Amino acid sequence: MDPRGWALTAMASQLGHPRGLPGRVVGRMLNRGNRSAIGAAVAALSVPRDAVLADLGFGGGLGLALLLRRVGTTGQVHGVDISTTMLAAATRRYRHSIGTGRLALHLAPIERLPLPTSSIDGAITLNTLYFINDLTEALSECARILKPGGRLVVGLGDPVAMSRMPFTAHGFRIRPVGDVIGALRRCTLDVDEHRRVGSDSNAYHLLVASAPPGAGVGG
Ligand SMILES: C[S@@+](CC[C@H](N)C(=O)[O-])C[C@H]1O[C@@H](n2cnc3c(N)ncnc32)[C@H](O)[C@@H]1O
Repeated sequence: MDPRGWALTAMASQLGHPRGLPGRVVGRMLNRGNRSAIGAAVAALSVPRDAVLADLGFGGGLGLALLLRRVGTTGQVHGVDISTTMLAAATRRYRHSIGTGRLALHLAPIERLPLPTSSIDGAITLNTLYFINDLTEALSECARILKPGGRLVVGLGDPVAMSRMPFTAHGFRIRPVGDVIGALRRCTLDVDEHRRVGSDSNAYHLLVASAPPGAGVGG
């Protein structure tokens, strides 16, 4: 592989699964670059302050900080990621919240969440679906953990803008937003809103979905 192809593949791989020192740098970049999208996703949850919330694929961990702020001292936050590097960094950074029981971190894939059925009031998952092969498997798991009426906010870059980024050809799975909406519905979730973060045609997409009230997902 030529050096450029190698560098782009390495970058795509680090974004999908941050590892080691380069992974920690990627985590910090993600927190900076995705700040407005993550903030908008947390705001879209609109849940009570004592809620149980989750960031699925938390990466650099900014979402964990914003969710902790959102729930105050009475709620709880779960963070799930497959990267031991991201888990170790978040364990260090949020040791106080972990110590008080407000934050629990889990090394696990979204496709097999280590969380009980109907236990979560709201979850966010941003910039993760590019690395997931079976959308239905992952979103069914998200639906399973939501309480009736609980919300899931899915964030993804605009597919056209994403496909112009050179590294996305090296391991990203870019899907039309309509496919993600269809998969959410197949997984028994209502798609309540499709928001954009930004004003141009490349603006980031936030899909706000919810578990039907009174209808717990079996499992
Ligand atoms: C591009 S980063 C996004 C991080 C953060 N959500 C953000 O928007 O800044 C993708 C993160 O998802 C994690 N990830 C990838 N596939 C995953 C999966 N199947 N289950 C859980 N986490 C996953 C990666 O380890 C990485 O930390």
